[in-house]
Amino acid sequence: MDVLSQFRLDGRVAVVTGGSKGLGKAMGLALAQAGAEVVLCSRHGAEASQAIVEIQAAGGRGGAGLACDVTDPAAVEALVERVRGQWGRIDIWVNSAGINIRHPIEDFPVADFERVVDVNLRGTWLCCRAVSRVLKEQGSGSVINVASVLGTIGLRERTAYCASKAGVIGLTRALALEWASSGVRCNALCPGPFLTEINQALLDDPAKARAVVGQTAFQRWAELREIQGPALFLASDASSYMTGAALVVDGGWSVA
Ligand SMILES: NC(=O)c1ccc[n+]([C@@H]2O[C@H](COP(=O)([O-])OP(=O)(O)OC[C@H]3O[C@@H](n4cnc5c(N)ncnc54)[C@H](OP(=O)(O)O)[C@@H]3O)[C@@H](O)[C@H]2O)c1
Repeated sequence: MDVLSQFRLDGRVAVVTGGSKGLGKAMGLALAQAGAEVVLCSRHGAEASQAIVEIQAAGGRGGAGLACDVTDPAAVEALVERVRGQWGRIDIWVNSAGINIRHPIEDFPVADFERVVDVNLRGTWLCCRAVSRVLKEQGSGSVINVASVLGTIGLRERTAYCASKAGVIGLTRALALEWASSGVRCNALCPGPFLTEINQALLDDPAKARAVVGQTAFQRWAELREIQGPALFLASDASSYMTGAALVVDGGWSVA
């Protein structure tokens, strides 16, 4: 098999949670352009559907945009059943749904902590739990859990986010072992700073935004296209000997 064909996803079905915007949408586009049928979901089905229209306009195979709140176990189960029922299989599952809330710990409302952990960690766990049986029955599959460089290092005022993303990396490692004998892979993707809505509160404070980007070796924000190659790599046979890894795409932030 020549090396570029290892990156093709023709005939495969991919689900991207948090796919209506930001990194999820960019990764969905990459998977679709590599030949996969892509299902995007977020809490707002209309926004996910609009993202599919944009993917189709960019020449990708977009399957559907669906509403699913990843914190709702029944909705997550229903999403898995819907995709399996309509497309017959699930080959790639990207857990990109995520939020961030920033406070010093003494001012951190417990409800905000719970919300961050609920979406980022429990939501990812619920999706992995729901899709597990399908992937194991197929004997193949690639799950990508979007963690963060902040799952590998700390940053002040991000106690909930850092804890949730470190949890996602731990979940990924445990599942890699649990699924390996079934031919199913599970890897984490750990982005650095990208200009998406999750960073809007940061962007509203230019000094804080500069300080964050100043942590990277490249001294700049990442471009959305810079998550696409790493996501395609982990989704495809190009990474077939990788499982349990945490692939850092952080502009050199964590090497300092
Ligand atoms: N951007 C960065 O700098 C950066 C860095 C490291 C890691 N990450 C991680 O990358 C992932 C994507 O972030 P992003 O930058 O693309 O943020 P974004 O632009 O804010 O997109 C977040 C996505 O998650 C969805 N979402 C939020 N809560 C959800 C829920 N309960 N159920 C289903 N979908 C939900 C959002 O749609 P709705 O709100 O409509 O549901 C949206 O589609 C997150 O896990 C984030 O932690 C981002």
